[in-house]
Amino acid sequence: MKIIKGNQQVRQAARDYENYSSNLQGDQDVRDYKQLPLEVDPPDHTALRELLNPWFSKDAVKAFEPEFSDIAKSLIDSFSDEVEIAHELALQMIVQCLGVVFGRPQDVAEWYSWGPDTWITDEDGIRHGDHLDRYLLKTFDELDEKPTDDLFGVLNRAEIAGRALTRKEKYGIANLVLAGGRDTVVKLISGCLWHLAQNQEHRETLRSNPELIPDFITEMVRFLSPLPMMHRVDVAETANPEDPKYVWLSFISANQDSSVITDPEQIKLDRGANPHLGFGYGRHSCIGMHLAQLEAKIVLELWLEKFSTWEVLPESELLFDFEEYKFIPSRFHSLSLKINS
Ligand code: HEM
Repeated sequence: MKIIKGNQQVRQAARDYENYSSNLQGDQDVRDYKQLPLEVDPPDHTALRELLNPWFSKDAVKAFEPEFSDIAKSLIDSFSDEVEIAHELALQMIVQCLGVVFGRPQDVAEWYSWGPDTWITDEDGIRHGDHLDRYLLKTFDELDEKPTDDLFGVLNRAEIAGRALTRKEKYGIANLVLAGGRDTVVKLISGCLWHLAQNQEHRETLRSNPELIPDFITEMVRFLSPLPMMHRVDVAETANPEDPKYVWLSFISANQDSSVITDPEQIKLDRGANPHLGFGYGRHSCIGMHLAQLEAKIVLELWLEKFSTWEVLPESELLFDFEEYKFIPSRFHSLSLKINS
């Protein structure tokens, strides 16, 4: 499949929805509805995104900082000696914070049980989504019976262009806000602690200057590119809409483009301007970026306050399978750390 690479080229394509359309149905092996607002173009995209914006704005998310800090503190306080970060810290933090933002703490244990990918992959590598279908059916049936003012309750009564949302549209929105910030944030939090385990200078600088943590997180979003590529329909190449031809937008190539980022393979605390596309670009850029950044900032602040040195244990399962960028971890199946002090 064609891949669009380079910082300027990806920006341009991400803006150009008439030629590179998001009107598609992904993950056909595990769902028969579109993830929304991701898989539509304007004008539907605009209306759906407006529905979600109030829950994900910088100010809305910031208001939850005290609750997020309590969550991170209780997780980090329970660690000593050895800990597996990807699940016991990152995924726990993510699902508990979503429980707060979405107003559904009663669902947190169930969300955690799905693992970092939302879909469950069996031993034969086949993905399953039935558990999610059951959850969405049960949740929206309950909301029909007993309306609530939490995110899903509001979605259940929402209208766009003067009509109620269909069930599948509600599923598509709920699915995406549950799935979008899981493996991506797991990679971000794990990647930050993986890097700092190995880089004493960065560890000490950030401990003495915690105000640098947000810029470090931005740099790690660039370096890791937790969502490395997304596809679009190549409109010019598609003769039959039933048989769409796809093209990839490579956010990772944009983040490793040396024409706009000096020494892109290095992680720098003093990078200054950082024109990365780790959260995408244009209309579909990540709605959860403030949430992801706040979750990571709180975890790092508390972790650095409590621990001075730690090391990556050999049983950790990291993947480095980005073809052109073998130095970037593509996945933290697990990250086991030994805390020294
Ligand atoms: C480090 C963490 C994250 C990264 C790197 C990331 C990355 C991205 C990227 C690259 C896109 C653009 C996709 C495209 O253009 O096709 C995107 C869209 C999106 N993200 Fe994130 N994401 C992260 C966290 C989150 C979180 C925490 C949430 C919500 C809980 C979230 C929800 C979404 C949604 C709903 C969209 C679709 C927006 C739209 O179509 O208008 N993401 N994300």
